[in-house]
Amino acid sequence: MAAVKSKTVFVCQSCSAEVLRWQGQCPQCGEWNTLQEQRSFKASMNQRSGLQASLAPTSPEVVILGDVNAVESPRQQTGIQELDRVLGGGIVPGAVVLLGGDPGIGKSTLLLQSLAALVVNPSKLVPVLYVTGEESAQQVALRARRLGMQALPIPLLAETRLETILTVIEARRPLVVVIDSIQTMYTETLSSAPGSVAQVRECAATLTRMAKAYGISVILVGHVTKDGTLAGPRVLEHIVDTVLYFEGDTHSSFRLVRAIKNRFGAVNELGVFSMGESGLREVNNPSALFVSRHPQPVAGSAVMATLEGTRTLLVEIQALTDEAQTGPARRLSVGLESSRLSLLLAVLNRHVGVATGHSDVFVNAVGGVKITEPAADLALVLAVYSSLTNRPLPPNLVVFGEVGLSGEVRPVQRGQERLREAAKLGFKQAIVPMLNLPSKKSGKNTVIDGIELVGVDRVEEACEWIKQQ
Ligand code: TYD
Ligand code: MG
Repeated sequence: MAAVKSKTVFVCQSCSAEVLRWQGQCPQCGEWNTLQEQRSFKASMNQRSGLQASLAPTSPEVVILGDVNAVESPRQQTGIQELDRVLGGGIVPGAVVLLGGDPGIGKSTLLLQSLAALVVNPSKLVPVLYVTGEESAQQVALRARRLGMQALPIPLLAETRLETILTVIEARRPLVVVIDSIQTMYTETLSSAPGSVAQVRECAATLTRMAKAYGISVILVGHVTKDGTLAGPRVLEHIVDTVLYFEGDTHSSFRLVRAIKNRFGAVNELGVFSMGESGLREVNNPSALFVSRHPQPVAGSAVMATLEGTRTLLVEIQALTDEAQTGPARRLSVGLESSRLSLLLAVLNRHVGVATGHSDVFVNAVGGVKITEPAADLALVLAVYSSLTNRPLPPNLVVFGEVGLSGEVRPVQRGQERLREAAKLGFKQAIVPMLNLPSKKSGKNTVIDGIELVGVDRVEEACEWIKQQ
């Protein structure tokens, strides 16, 4: 053990400097409390035993890229279509997936349900292992009972010591392993507490090596702390193959699982679920969820078509402008980027001549969805314009387009798909960037899929069209 300790180094989380002894202040960058224990790479390779030793690299081998037999192994379906969709069509053997999200959002529930789907059919039973470090076996069994699946043969291991877990995996050779959660695991080769950056990173790195060596798919659960950094899954994002995040408003029953990084599929792919009395239910056609149907047209509401991976969603953007009562005018955005809001208010002022300097402006994407693509710009501008002028947009109007600083409306990708989705939901008119119109010859106003298209080049044209309705 003494030999292990002497090879331990402390790495500054701010400047990556390495020192041999812990101290409060980093000698290189001068930051306080940034030194974290980490085993030197050589030490971690030399000290491994059993399964870990077999994971250490043997003789190095250089291969010619063209000679590598790059056959894709078939993906393992998780039994939950929405999860398979976010993973890019199922889980790849040997892939390591990190499922992050706030505590209580439904990570354990989703994974238990998907393991249940893998063992439900005795003739196609996939060997799995559920390692729980957070809850006892009884607690997991209680959840399983609530989900109506207590009789299913899911192997469960309540353990937090990594070495024991590796021994069990070696003996059982499951194809899919769930580690719930990575923050509760610890390896004896480090003396720091479970949940520290060093422990989380070391445990995840060892599990990743194991996954690659044996072709076992591993799903790591990770909690996001409030700031999203401290010992949280952020330090793991570069180690793992796929990062999924659970999003959604804990007050509503909808839960979104989004792929932030995926070596085996599209990023930003979205899976939609709703949390009910008996667990998570898949929502296969979620487009209408994020649009509230108003009995009468209301000012300050615009519906946009947004792309989430391969999926098109219609989302209502709401804006409320009100005279600022005291102090400087407030800007608040929920589900949309606040820097984008300030920028678009400036565009509205300069190019349309509508000032918001003395008004509070609040904007919201309905349903707890987060939109980061600039295609939301035009809908946001029109929602604010509509609220300021107290002029509702026509019902059944959908809007998308990126707005530039000079007031130009730029085209967005996959405009046709967005329109098709809107047509399916009965939208009749669309304001779109001129360059998104199917062909230049078709003129400013064309009809596709039953939707009358209004092409615009500039924001003022879009506002003018609204004014004339
Ligand atoms: P959980 O899956 O334990 O969340 P996490 O692992 O991300 O911390 O639990 C999610 C929440 O969902 C919990 O507050 C209870 C609730 N829940 C339901 O509403 N219905 C159910 O069937 C289950 C199992 C949980
Ligand atoms: Mg949990």
